[in-house]
Amino acid sequence: MSHKIFIFDTTLRDGEQAPGMHLNVKEKLEIAYQLQKLNVDVIEAGFPISSKSDFNAVKEISGIIKDKSIAALARANFKDIDAAGEALKNAANPVIHTFISSSDIHLKYQLNKTREQVLEIAAESVKRCKKYTDNIEFSAMDATRSDREYLARMFEVAIKNGAKVLNVPDTVGYALPLEYSALIEYLMNNVRGIENTIISVHCHNDLGLAVANSILAINAGARQIECSVNGVGERAGNAAIEEIALILDTRKKDMDFHTDINIKEIAKTSNLVSSLTGYLIAPNKAIVGKNAFSHEAGIHQDGMLKDRSTYEILKPEDIGLSASKLILGKHSGRHAFVKRIEDLGFNLNEAEIEKSFEKFKSLAERKGTINDNDLKAIVQNETIEIKEYFKLNYYHILSGTNVKSTSTVGIEINGKLFEAVHFGDGPIDASFKAIDQITKLSAKLIDYSIEAVSEGKDAIGAVKIVVSNNGIQVLGRGISTDVIEASIKAYINAMNRIVESQET
Ligand code: KIV
Ligand code: ZN
Repeated sequence: MSHKIFIFDTTLRDGEQAPGMHLNVKEKLEIAYQLQKLNVDVIEAGFPISSKSDFNAVKEISGIIKDKSIAALARANFKDIDAAGEALKNAANPVIHTFISSSDIHLKYQLNKTREQVLEIAAESVKRCKKYTDNIEFSAMDATRSDREYLARMFEVAIKNGAKVLNVPDTVGYALPLEYSALIEYLMNNVRGIENTIISVHCHNDLGLAVANSILAINAGARQIECSVNGVGERAGNAAIEEIALILDTRKKDMDFHTDINIKEIAKTSNLVSSLTGYLIAPNKAIVGKNAFSHEAGIHQDGMLKDRSTYEILKPEDIGLSASKLILGKHSGRHAFVKRIEDLGFNLNEAEIEKSFEKFKSLAERKGTINDNDLKAIVQNETIEIKEYFKLNYYHILSGTNVKSTSTVGIEINGKLFEAVHFGDGPIDASFKAIDQITKLSAKLIDYSIEAVSEGKDAIGAVKIVVSNNGIQVLGRGISTDVIEASIKAYINAMNRIVESQET
C-alpha cells in the first residue's frame, strides 16, 4: 500500500527568513493561492509575533483559503502562542506550530536553561496551544544535535500535553542521510505514544542534503515533509518541494509513498515565487532550472531524437511547461493575454488585468513580440500594491566621460513635489543620493542587479536591489527600457517598502 506523505509548505515562513526576502501581505496571498493550486496539505503562512505584516498575512490567508490547513509559528511562550492563535482565528483548519530547542548547545548558549526547565516550558506551551486548536505541531529545534534520550523525553512531554505532529528539524543542516533516518527510527521505537502522532521532518540544506535526508526519513517512518518552493529558506534554504514531489512521483514504482501535489503546477509555482521574491533560480537547479530539460551534447541530442527515454527521465510537460508557447504581440487579444498570465501563475483581479493589459499593449506596440519575462515584469510592476509614499515625478541626468555625474530628481510626497540634486560616482549613484536626500531614509545598498528580461536592444531592463534599513532588508524592483529609470524606480520602490514595513 502506498503511504501518503503530507506536504507542509514553509515558503511563506522559513522561506521568508532567507536573507533579503520580504514579502508583503498581497504577495504572500498571491503565493498562497498558488500553493492551494499546487495542492500542498499545510501552508505555514508566517510567524505572527514577528511583525504586524506577518500577523496580517496569516490572518488574511486564514480568512480566504479554507481547504488547506494554515499553520502559524510560535516560540514556546504564551505571547507568541496567543498571537498565533489570534491570527489563525478565521482558519478552517488552524495549526499552531510551536517550538523550543532541545540541543545542549542551544540550551546553554541561547536559552540559558536546564533540561528540566525546558521540558516544563514545552509542556506549558503545548497546553496553551489547546486554547486555540487541537492541531498542534511541536518542533524540537536543533533535534539532530540533541541527546537522543532527552529528545525522546521532550517529545513524550509534547504528546502528553496534546501535540499531534512531532517535528524533528535538522536546523543547521548537519545530519547525514543514514544518521537522520536512524534518528527517526530511534524515536519511533523509544517515544511512548508516538504511534498516535505524525512525524514530520524539516531539513536545512547547508550541506546540500536536505532532500536526501527528507526522503530517507520517510523510509524510517516520517509521514510529513516540510519544504519550500525552489528550496528557499534560512541560509542555504530548506528541502525543495519540487524535488521531493518529483522524486516520489518519478520513482513511485520503487517506493511506497505518494504526495497529493499537483505536479503540473510546479513550473508556475516556482516561477511565481522566484518573481515575487527576486530569488533567481540557478540554470542547473533540479526540476525548475532553465537547463533542467535542455540537452547540449551531440550524443545526447542524437539519443533524444531517436527516443526521448534515452536521456530524459522527466518530461517538461509533467511539471506544466508547455513545449509550444503562444507568442504574444501587438495583435494579441485580451483572452490570449489573460491565459498566458494565468499560465505564469498570476491570479489577477479585473482591475489588475486591465492595468497590465494596457501596459502590455503599449509595450507590444514598441517592441513587437512580448515574451514571458516581459509579461512577468509588467504584471509585477502593475499589480503588486505597494503604497506609494514616494512617487517619481521626473529625473534628469548629466553624465559623460569628462563630467562628474549629476542627477536631479523630483519626488512627490502626499502630492507635494520635492526636488534634490546630487553628484555621484556615476548616474545611478548620483540618483540614489538625491533620493536619499528627499526621503531622509538612511538605507544601505546591499545588492544591485540588472537583467535584460527579453532579447534585443529595446529589451526591458529589470533592476532588483536589496537595501537594509535598521536591520530589515527589503527588495526593490523597477522596470523600464531605460536602465537609469529602472534603477531609480527600484530604489524608490525599496524606500516605499521600508516605510510600509515600518507601518505594518
Ligand atoms: O529550522 C528550524 O529548526 C525551524 C523550526 C522553527 C522548526 O525552522
Ligand atoms: Zn527551519
